[in-house]
Amino acid sequence: TGLVVAMDGPSGSGKSSVSRGAARALGLRYLDTGAMYRAMTWWMLQQGVELTDPAAVAARCGEPAIVSGTDPDGPTIHVDGVDVAEPIRQAEVTGAVSAVAAVPEVRARLVALQREIIGAGDIVVEGRDIGSVVWPQAAAKIYLTASPEARARRRSAEVAGSTVEAQQEAMARRDTLDSTRKTDPLSMAAGAIELDTTTLTLDEVVAEVLRLVVE
Ligand code: ADP
Ligand code: CDP
Repeated sequence: TGLVVAMDGPSGSGKSSVSRGAARALGLRYLDTGAMYRAMTWWMLQQGVELTDPAAVAARCGEPAIVSGTDPDGPTIHVDGVDVAEPIRQAEVTGAVSAVAAVPEVRARLVALQREIIGAGDIVVEGRDIGSVVWPQAAAKIYLTASPEARARRRSAEVAGSTVEAQQEAMARRDTLDSTRKTDPLSMAAGAIELDTTTLTLDEVVAEVLRLVVE
C-alpha cells in the first residue's frame, strides 16, 4: 500500500491545518476522520435518535451514506448526498459527537470506511486513533499537542462570539470523554512522535512534519 501519514491529537492541536498543509506539500490526499464522526452525529440529530442511548445509536448507525472528498485544497463531506461541511461544525454537533463516537458499532463502521479510503493510495489522515487503530502500519505517526490555553485560543479565534474560557471548558470536557471511552480512546500510538505546537507557527509545524515524513 501507499504512503500513509497518521496525524492524531486533541482538538485545537492543529491537526486539520497541519495535515492539509503537509498533504498539499507532498501531493497526497487528505482525510478528516473527525468530520465523519461529526457527519454521523449530525444525521443522528436530524433523525431524532436519542444520543444518550448507545443501543439506539448502534441500531441506526448503518443507515447514513457518508462520503468524504480527499482533496487537501477542498475537502468535502456529504451525508446521503447532502453537503454537511457547515452544519457539522455547529455547537450542537460538537457537544454531542463524543457520545456518538464512543459507541463501538459507530467506530466499527467508520473505521471500515476509513480503511477503504486509505487503502486506495497515498494520504495524510487526521483523527484520534489513526496511528493506534485505523492504520498502525502508517509510515509516519505524529501526535500533535499544545497547551489547553493555546488550543482554546485558536478555536475561539475561529468561532464568532466565543470566549477562550468557554472553549477551554468545552474542550476539556470532550478531551475527557475521548480519552476515557472504553473503545479505542484517544492516546499516543506506539511509535508515534509527539510534536508540541504551543510555541510554533503553523509553517514551522508543517516543516517539521515534512522532515519527519521524508526521514
Ligand atoms: P484541530 O484539527 O487539531 O482541531 P486545527 O487545525 O483546526 O486543529 O487548528 C485550529 C486553529 O489553530 C486553526 O485556525 C489554525 O490555523 C490554528 N493553528 C493551528 N496550528 C497552529 C500553530 N502552530 N500556531 C498557530 N495557530 C495554529
Ligand atoms: O476539529 P476537532 O478537533 O474539534 O474535532 P474533530 O477532529 O472534528 O473530532 C470530533 C470528535 O470526533 C472527537 O471529539 C472525537 O469524539 C471523535 N473522533 C474520534 O473518536 N475518532 C477519530 N478518529 C476522529 C474523531
